[in-house]
Amino acid sequence: MTPRTTGTEAAGGLVPQLLDSLDFGLLAMDGESHVLYINRKASEILGTPAEEFLGRPAGEFLNSRTPGFSFWSLDQIDPEEAGTREIMLEYGSKEFLLEARWLTPAETEGPIAAILAFDDVTETVGEVEFQRRVDRFASVGDLSAVIAHEIRNPLTGIRTTIQYVGGKMPRDSTLRADLEEVIKELDRIEQFTTDLLQFARPKSFQLVEQDINPILETVMDNLEIPFAEAGITVRRDLAPNLPGLPFDRDAIQQVFLNIVLNAIEAMPGGGQFRISSSVRRYRSRLAVEVAFSDTGCGISEEVIDKIFDPFFTSKPAGTGLGLSISLQILREHGGRITVRNRSQGGVTFRLSFPVRSGAGPSG
Ligand SMILES: Nc1ncnc2c1ncn2[C@@H]1O[C@H](COP(=O)(O)OP(=O)(O)OP(=O)(O)O)[C@@H](O)[C@H]1O
Ligand SMILES: [Mg+2]
Repeated sequence: MTPRTTGTEAAGGLVPQLLDSLDFGLLAMDGESHVLYINRKASEILGTPAEEFLGRPAGEFLNSRTPGFSFWSLDQIDPEEAGTREIMLEYGSKEFLLEARWLTPAETEGPIAAILAFDDVTETVGEVEFQRRVDRFASVGDLSAVIAHEIRNPLTGIRTTIQYVGGKMPRDSTLRADLEEVIKELDRIEQFTTDLLQFARPKSFQLVEQDINPILETVMDNLEIPFAEAGITVRRDLAPNLPGLPFDRDAIQQVFLNIVLNAIEAMPGGGQFRISSSVRRYRSRLAVEVAFSDTGCGISEEVIDKIFDPFFTSKPAGTGLGLSISLQILREHGGRITVRNRSQGGVTFRLSFPVRSGAGPSG
């Protein structure tokens, strides 16, 4: 018996149900990149109802940060080099890392010119990297505590002796200036061991449920002068009514400060800096996300895996503890931090804090 209908026709109304059951996103566009169809998973990933996309040119709301990948001109798309690739997309104030591939429409006559199949890997990539870093530094922390302790004790003796010797010198002795230099260097070592101890044995945190935006505002306000001096323009995109988060104000402020100072140091010739806060839904969980983007020197792929390691620094006077302390503080808050080079230069640090179910807007 010859079948008169194709499988698809026979499926009839089952097709939409089928497409909506897929566990990856599908987005179909016409030749002008207008969205013709978007399945349930795709609108879930983007966090917006399908109706808001339909009929609009995809490039109007989805910005690609991946070179050679654009929604504006479909003629750029080469289904031949199909394969799955990672693309960085910006939608609203959010950035997504998608694992995407182009599918060739079965009918060349029909309205569909291109189909994008994609999955959100923003979270999974971050999760793996994060766990790797946490594992790596448990033992480094123990070692650091011992080292810091051993350096600190003799330091006190050295300082007392130098001050005593200085006091015995004639007032006009030029050697006094030399001793003052030595004291300055001692201060540096002391600061370093303080940082080190904090890293190794972090103080216990006072977790108080509060809004994260005021902390961001404070850090940015305090750094207005360094920003201006470096010729950096600043944009703040802070979402109103974020859910409250339980965190230690001083500790989180220090994390933000470390990241922002690094960004300033990465843009000695000026540039742009953007901070944003937003709420994201990961499957069934809610998270508050804070992103810091700069247009600085970026981080070479050879070292990007190392920047959260204690003592990793590319700066002549850096200690390399800023980011490792920040990572540790975030970990104590159940949050995570990831970094990515931006396609147009510079980096984005992304921090994510879990929202406890039932937490309301912090006002
Ligand atoms: N925004 C950024 N752009 C480029 N590179 C960065 C950025 N942030 C961090 N890095 C890299 O990561 C390294 C580690 O940063 P981290 O803050 O831990 O230490 P540091 O800034 O070198 O020293 P310090 O302990 O004084 O903070 C830096 O030396 C730099 O190479
Ligand atoms: Mg730093």
